[in-house]
Amino acid sequence: MRNKLIVGNWKMHGSRPANAELLSGILAARPFAADVAVCVPFPYLFEAAATLAASEIRWGAQDCSAHDQGAYTGEVSAQMLAECGCRYALVGHSERRAYHHESDALVAEKAKLLLARGVTPIVCVGETLAERDAGQTEDVVKRQLSVVIHALAHCASEIVVAYEPVWAIGTGRTATPEQAQQVHAVLRAQLQAATGHGERMKILYGGSVKADNAATLFAMPDIDGGLIGGASLKAADFVAICRAAA
Ligand code: PGA
Repeated sequence: MRNKLIVGNWKMHGSRPANAELLSGILAARPFAADVAVCVPFPYLFEAAATLAASEIRWGAQDCSAHDQGAYTGEVSAQMLAECGCRYALVGHSERRAYHHESDALVAEKAKLLLARGVTPIVCVGETLAERDAGQTEDVVKRQLSVVIHALAHCASEIVVAYEPVWAIGTGRTATPEQAQQVHAVLRAQLQAATGHGERMKILYGGSVKADNAATLFAMPDIDGGLIGGASLKAADFVAICRAAA
């Protein structure tokens, strides 16, 4: 039995007062049946750590460098994230792939460095609307994941995967539970074939998950929780989604 995991992706939102209010609202609503984490902007990591350390809520980052250390101005390494107590870091979010031209190979490199530092990479995959319309969804997500699996070799079973159709992110247009389940089943079969541990690995769904659609998505057999953007910014909304993952 895979425990559900709900991860908030704050993206570039927040402020110290807003974060304090959001985190205290989440803390006050505990306990949750699901595992819960928030991926916050880098400057807020230490404060999130201090606020959450005594709870079972985990925290993480939204990216990391593909380099271990060195002259890479503006970058943040996996080791630094580990020092901030990060349990998770997102890699390959579609916004990074689109706006920063991140390739599958770069995403794989980041995942590798994170695992080496004991931080669990949440590897995001997903097709654009044009790719879906062209019938390429399965090919695209399998290609994105296979590069990571290949690079990680025997460690591949340590990652979390997030299926996030690009057309569903921030658009209010969610994949139907059946559409999402179909892709999750493909990804799980791929993970099982490559690692032998697909049955215990977590595959999250992301893309316009809200309090009112979360329960039906999470009820699908291969959907192990959610990666939540917009609805993770208000405690009441995020808490309702966490509770939907019973
Ligand atoms: P959304 O974002 O929930 O606002 O659609 C999800 C994500 O980008 O991780």
